[in-house]
Amino acid sequence: MPELYKQIFENNKKWVEETKKNNPKFFDELANGQKPPILWIGCSDSRVPANEITGTKPGEIFVHRNIANMVVHSDMNMLSVLDYAVNVLNVTHVIVCGHYGCGGVITAMGNKQVGIIDNWLRHIKDVYRLHYEELQAIQDPKTRADRFVELNVIEQVLDLSKTSIVQNAWRSGQKLYLHGLVYDIANGYLKDLDVTMDDPDQLPSYYLLDKVAVVK
Ligand code: CO
Repeated sequence: MPELYKQIFENNKKWVEETKKNNPKFFDELANGQKPPILWIGCSDSRVPANEITGTKPGEIFVHRNIANMVVHSDMNMLSVLDYAVNVLNVTHVIVCGHYGCGGVITAMGNKQVGIIDNWLRHIKDVYRLHYEELQAIQDPKTRADRFVELNVIEQVLDLSKTSIVQNAWRSGQKLYLHGLVYDIANGYLKDLDVTMDDPDQLPSYYLLDKVAVVK
């Protein structure tokens, strides 16, 4: 058995003991339910753990992660997480967090076949197509990859705002902010890309959905 696998149970025991020492009611409180104010959509990359880098505790962030922090409109997993977070947990903030050096984004810049993932990465290739001129104009490969990571996050925030889930929440007067962030693995800092959305009018009109008519 790999050493790290054995170690996680030791670590877990220590964590439970230390946590109870700091707050004897910690687990009783969590067992009563969750009311996180934030949904986090991040990359599956092992170096970007949502709670740790944001200094938040269990119960504070609802998390969805996939390769390259994508919001794909036919992804039932993402849609279910988003619907539950917005309509049941009533989160106030949805964060899309990308990270520099993202393997998925870098792979999507090239033409090499990797496997099944190539089909997932097609969605990121679409982001490349949308911002082709800006990206092609950047000569330095690292600078170009970093900008691609940022543009991918910005497009995923837009993709969130295009969903019926987010638009219905906004139309019903629910306070819901969509944010785009990038995490720098090399120094640990989060950067807000300043693309926060909280209103359907920030979208072109052809993306807007009418209010659902009530059928009697
Ligand atoms: Co990544």
